[in-house]
Amino acid sequence: MKLRFSILCITLLISLTSFGQGDNYKQNYNKFDGLALTPPMGWNSWNKFACNVDEKLIREIADAMVSSGMKDAGYRYINIDDCWHGDRDSLGFIHPDPTRFPSGMKALADYIHSKGLKLGLYSDAGSQTCGGRPGSRGYEFQDAMTYAGWGVDYLKYDWCNTEGLKAEGAYKTITAALRKAGRPMVLSICEWGTDKPWVWGPAVGHLWRSTGDIYNCFDCVEDHGTWKSFGVMQILDKQEGLRQYAGPGHWNDPDMLEIGNGKLTPGEDRAHFAMWAMLAAPLIAGNDLRTMDKEIKDILTHQAIIAINQDSLGIQGFCYAKEDGFETWFKPLSDGKWAVSFLNRSAEAKPLNFNWQREKVRDEIFNRELNTAQQWYRIKNAWTGKSLGSTKNVLKAEVPPHDVLTLILEKSGK
Ligand code: GLA
Repeated sequence: MKLRFSILCITLLISLTSFGQGDNYKQNYNKFDGLALTPPMGWNSWNKFACNVDEKLIREIADAMVSSGMKDAGYRYINIDDCWHGDRDSLGFIHPDPTRFPSGMKALADYIHSKGLKLGLYSDAGSQTCGGRPGSRGYEFQDAMTYAGWGVDYLKYDWCNTEGLKAEGAYKTITAALRKAGRPMVLSICEWGTDKPWVWGPAVGHLWRSTGDIYNCFDCVEDHGTWKSFGVMQILDKQEGLRQYAGPGHWNDPDMLEIGNGKLTPGEDRAHFAMWAMLAAPLIAGNDLRTMDKEIKDILTHQAIIAINQDSLGIQGFCYAKEDGFETWFKPLSDGKWAVSFLNRSAEAKPLNFNWQREKVRDEIFNRELNTAQQWYRIKNAWTGKSLGSTKNVLKAEVPPHDVLTLILEKSGK
């Protein structure tokens, strides 16, 4: 009797433990679906403030995001980049720097959410972030749980100090951790394009950096000795061959905007914004929103340019022609519309004589055609809203040096 009872107990225990385990060990290496269906729009601290971040700044930026009209224009994410971190405690939990963030991250997230905005944080797949703060290597699941508990909506995950790691596997680990933590978060893969993140990234994250860091100049390369950062034009050139990988929920990320950071002329700021719109790039402002002047605000909140970027088709634009520092870019839009940008990279003004009837614009990858022979389109200057006639006529204009002319073409009739 005693023996039978013991056997019963043991059987019960075994079945209970295996029930308890369930398939808790299984991982889901796919990103959260349904996020970033258009390129994410927001702000990030790094370009302007580098490591000088604290809760006062972030709250003020959130306030300015609303009062400046940036929120109304579509910007949502307030992303704190490197250096928010304090130490891990004895149990391995990460805490924000107690001097810079004395109220803690949850309180900051609550504040940001109360404004109808979303919070982004930054970590790193390696042992340390690029700024030497604690990285997530070995703590992925614990960190993801912590971020979810704080109410984080977006994670930028960097690639410093990752000796011996393979990028795809490392990013799958953090994706699995975020899935397990259960709070939908946008995952921004920041691997600088080294291991072709556009190939494996679409399943794992919502955007991936396609290049090294942007540098605050229009047309230059900055050599830091062991690494280089790149001007707006250099970053643009590095997007070649990548457009087929982008689409709703998965974007090439040519890095954050330098508009309003004091080094670009108004024309260069316009060109930077228009080209990021043409690229269907994430629009992550990198300037001080509290002090920006009207000129900068008008660029960053320009409705028609943002509409090009946020178009629901999510097709990345392409360079149709380039000659002598002058480039012609096309981007197919929904409802048969097209965006066109004439980019003057040179130091002289360039005359424009564009005969629509003679051009054959075909997007082979996404199978679209601008058929100006059978169909005519009304033309609008996207920046000024003024009509520029139709594709029946030759477009004549002049594009100033380091500036852009952006058009919207809309079908008109036969
Ligand atoms: C790397 C990233 C940057 C920024 C810094 C922070 O360089 O590419 O965007 O996040 O680290 O240290």
